[in-house]
Amino acid sequence: MSEIEKIVFENLIFDSKNNIATITLNRPDKLNALNMDLLDELYDAFVECEVEDEIQAVILTGAGEKAFAAGADIEELAEMTPVEARQQSKNTADLFYYIEHFPKPVIAAVNGFCLGGGNELAMACHMRWASQNAKFGQPEVNLGLICGYGGSQRLARLIGKGRAIELLISGAMIDAKNACDYGLVNHVVEQDKLLTECEKFLQTVMKKGPLAVQLSIDAINRGLDMPLDQGIALESELFGIVSGTQDMKEGTAAFMEKRKPNFTGE
Ligand code: COA
Repeated sequence: MSEIEKIVFENLIFDSKNNIATITLNRPDKLNALNMDLLDELYDAFVECEVEDEIQAVILTGAGEKAFAAGADIEELAEMTPVEARQQSKNTADLFYYIEHFPKPVIAAVNGFCLGGGNELAMACHMRWASQNAKFGQPEVNLGLICGYGGSQRLARLIGKGRAIELLISGAMIDAKNACDYGLVNHVVEQDKLLTECEKFLQTVMKKGPLAVQLSIDAINRGLDMPLDQGIALESELFGIVSGTQDMKEGTAAFMEKRKPNFTGE
């Protein structure tokens, strides 16, 4: 897709250029807090990214220079009954699971506060790039709450049990460097280079076999939920599948013919 295409949302900005969709959480006056309308639109935006063949990767970021997302919308949370809260938690956890298992690479470009549900959303993405001013935390305990969108589970898997418990029960924020040291983010870059660095990385990935990229993410996502022996067996199954693709024939032939491969995703 050579031209920028814009789909209009109320709480998101959706851009698509050079095969990369950029979804921007767009409530900067509220530090991009995740209200229900925004989350509904986020689902629609990811469906668009899935069905549109020309989109090969997704960047998720926040509008403004201050926040990726400062959490679930506290005004909405305050009004919920326990039944509504449970349903809202389940719906959003399902959305985040969809993003985690998305068939195309998804990077969270974290450009400021990344708190509560915002951090849970970033953790559901496949990778995280952070600007130097980014701050991460799960401050739910400050509100007498706990994580509701998978945060307790993904944080412990990403940074380990002891550090996850420390962050969850203190509500403390950590800076981008610390988050990188913990393994919560992949890279820290200057704020004005954040999107271009993410795009540069994705342009590299998009030169690889798309099915191999998809199955690599799938192997890690599904394998981490299994005992090691089952994960290794899963990898062998996927290895067999990918070995039957046209892309594998093309990639190996191109290597032997000393030329660049022309992958078609078949
Ligand atoms: N939900 C709803 N509104 C939020 C919000 C959230 N999670 N986080 C920030 N906002 C709103 C503020 O109410 C304020 O709105 P207003 O201008 O209409 O009063 C606006 O965003 C700016 O936030 P403000 O608190 O003035 O900015 P700050 O720079 O002083 O502080 C934070 C930044 C992130 C430290 C602070 O906003 C904060 O603690 N937010 C809540 C974080 C949180 O607990 N998240 C987990 C929710 S479960």
